[in-house]
Amino acid sequence: MDKFLIQGGQKLEGEVRISGAKNAALPLLAATILADSPIRISNMPNLRDVNTLVKLIAGLGVAIEYASDTVTADTSTLNNQFAPYDLVKTMRASILVLGPLVARYGEAKVSLPGGCAIGSRPVDQHLKALEALGAHIEVENGYVHAKVDGRLKGGEVIFDVVTVGGTENILMAAALADGVTTIRNAAREPEITDLANMLIKMGAKIEGLDTDTLVVTGVESLHGCDYAVVADRIETGSYLAAAAITGGRVRTTHTDPALLECVLDKFEEMGAEVTRGDDWIELDMQGKRPKAVSFRTLPHPDFPTDMQAQIMAVNAIGRGFATISETIFENRFMHVPELSRMGANIQVEGNDAVVTGVEKLSAAPVMATDLRASFSLVLAALAAEGETLIDRIYHIDRGYEHIEAKLQGIGAKIKRVSG
Ligand code: UD1
Repeated sequence: MDKFLIQGGQKLEGEVRISGAKNAALPLLAATILADSPIRISNMPNLRDVNTLVKLIAGLGVAIEYASDTVTADTSTLNNQFAPYDLVKTMRASILVLGPLVARYGEAKVSLPGGCAIGSRPVDQHLKALEALGAHIEVENGYVHAKVDGRLKGGEVIFDVVTVGGTENILMAAALADGVTTIRNAAREPEITDLANMLIKMGAKIEGLDTDTLVVTGVESLHGCDYAVVADRIETGSYLAAAAITGGRVRTTHTDPALLECVLDKFEEMGAEVTRGDDWIELDMQGKRPKAVSFRTLPHPDFPTDMQAQIMAVNAIGRGFATISETIFENRFMHVPELSRMGANIQVEGNDAVVTGVEKLSAAPVMATDLRASFSLVLAALAAEGETLIDRIYHIDRGYEHIEAKLQGIGAKIKRVSG
């Protein structure tokens, strides 16, 4: 199993090219199922999760190819609507094929994704929403079997919780339903807007982009198009955090400051100088120790849960103390014991954590527990005295493209070791 060996203490400086967003790439891939002519998606990040979904879609019979950063797909050979457990269990986002399959082919059998390390993560809202559009749903032997006679019918969907994947699933399904669907309490993450933009390019009729009410007027069919995945705001924030924790200066390029305003505000509150360009962001910590900053994770446009662990790591060496409340997932502090092993002072009570900054972290063997938590350990290692060994980095490979090369490019001493 691969591990990272990181020698801490380098002030990171330079440029990092940001990749396409994993969380946009996955729904965009699922949406290829809706197209009745070939579709081409570029700026695809080369990640384990992307490869998993490509494999799953290929298993449906779709002629899908993934070369360099581009995926092309042609659904004319699709011959089954079955997503098996062995693929779905490795990536929850596989459930995103459910909506498109029922909408276009009238039937789908998709394995229920299990819980995952950060929480139970049910899909009840996805199913309830599809039922509101007329799908008949049965859950049996660990599989969701969804069926509709004829086409889905537009209707009113009111989510009980703000769900990113649920909103995406129903947005795709509604695009091919008969009549108008109103989705209320919809999530507003930029990746949803990216999906809506691609669907519109495919011929869908969607209004209310970037708001919590999406109105979709179903169309007969959707065609292929050429589309580029939006920049990864979480990867952007993660590399800016690497500058902040090492007192360095990093410019992220091929990104968009409008995607992560709330996070940039927090960096400024830390005392960093943040400069925003059209498609770049530079963070200069000017050799200073950041001030610890408090925040609460909430749906977009508030502070993203996917940046919680990274900012906690920066707080760990911050001046003063900060409180962090995690309101999206019930078990997303698994990085805390690992950061503590490196000398961080963090007290957790339920979904709240109090971080009291220490002057220095020290190297220790640690273990990655989930995707974003893994990056928080990388950050801590970059700032720590000594050489840190991070185990189980397969979690990182799910969501950070070329991480060693990107970090080495800004002066980090990081290498991948196997065994
Ligand atoms: C997506 C992101 C993930 C991010 C999360 C929250 C992708 C591939 N993943 O995950 O990186 O951390 O949004 O921003 O885009 N819930 C229910 N019932 C449901 C669905 C969700 O109770 O049917 C709950 C979840 O357990 C969780 C909350 O709603 O507590 C938010 O989950 P959701 O927004 O659906 O997250 P994902 O789409 O799985």
